[in-house]
Amino acid sequence: MTTTAETLSRIATRPTWAEVSLSALRQNFRTVRKHVGAGVTVCAVVKADAYGHGAVECSRALEAEGATWLGVTSLDEAIPLREAGIEAGILLMTGFWRGEENEIVRLGLTPTVWEPWHIESLEKAAAASHVPRHPVHLKVDTGMGRLGVSLDGLPAVLAALKTAKHLVPEGVSTHLASSEIMDAPSVADQQRRFEEAERMWRSAGLEPSFVHIANTGAVISRRETWNNMVRPGVALYGYYLPFQRAGREVSGGTLRLPVKPVLTWKTRILSLRDFAANQALGYGGTYVTKAPAHVAVLPVGYADGYNRQNSLQHLQTRPPKVQQLDCFHGWSTGPGCHGAQSSPGARGVTE
Ligand SMILES: Cc1ncc(COP(=O)(O)O)c(C=O)c1O
Repeated sequence: MTTTAETLSRIATRPTWAEVSLSALRQNFRTVRKHVGAGVTVCAVVKADAYGHGAVECSRALEAEGATWLGVTSLDEAIPLREAGIEAGILLMTGFWRGEENEIVRLGLTPTVWEPWHIESLEKAAAASHVPRHPVHLKVDTGMGRLGVSLDGLPAVLAALKTAKHLVPEGVSTHLASSEIMDAPSVADQQRRFEEAERMWRSAGLEPSFVHIANTGAVISRRETWNNMVRPGVALYGYYLPFQRAGREVSGGTLRLPVKPVLTWKTRILSLRDFAANQALGYGGTYVTKAPAHVAVLPVGYADGYNRQNSLQHLQTRPPKVQQLDCFHGWSTGPGCHGAQSSPGARGVTE
């Protein structure tokens, strides 16, 4: 993480930066918690560097707001959190690689497991470290076809868990493929398979403290999937995907959650130009002025993370009679676009 002074000096020489509002993040977490109610634990997903917002800073803020669980992809994302003093439960949502089991036990991380070798290696690591009961969360693949044990493979994994005396199956989870598609038959199919899995794990004597399915889409739209833990990611940062039914967007109404963007991308106007009507602008001359135009050139390009597909697409009229190009990509081959000073290094955090 850069210091405020470093960020400010970079902003002075390359005035394009991202600001992360930790208070907005905390507010979004409160919004999700209120939405699901007191009986449902929110596992705040901070994978992929908290979706690019800075995992350590975001995790600290979420923990200060009362988050007791954080979700990351893998061990490499969990280590900096523990090193930063994060004490919340950390769920390794995509399991682990062979050889990581000792570190997982040492750092008190909670791995997702679904293969017999996961259980065998963790059992050995916990026994060797004299850890009496290390928690694991079992993942069932109910139809997403990504991670988790299939229903066919479940009996063998349940048997392995039963014999692992140093592990405690604290949670069971699955992941939905189409939580935003309101009429996707796959969601009901996945739920049915999860219920079947539940009958199997219960008859094998498993009594997990946490059962979890829901990502952001399901948190907003599918109360029946909440169980007693949810795993929202993108909502914490202020967004969710549009909901659809019969191929059409049906967002709004109850399909909404009042979260707000945590990240603001800022820049300064580099140059103001006046053009006559019918002037082609930018690469390929893809935008042609319809009337005399006052054009602001911003020092933002693809190197900063600006999506090339947005090139000269986003026109706003603000205030009336002034057309503002969100981004004029002529800059992307200009000075200042090369590497180190682009957005990640110039990420400021506000309280
Ligand atoms: C297993 C799992 N759970 C939850 C999430 C959070 O998803 P979302 O950002 O849609 O809330 C993810 C994100 O990729 C995930 O992989």
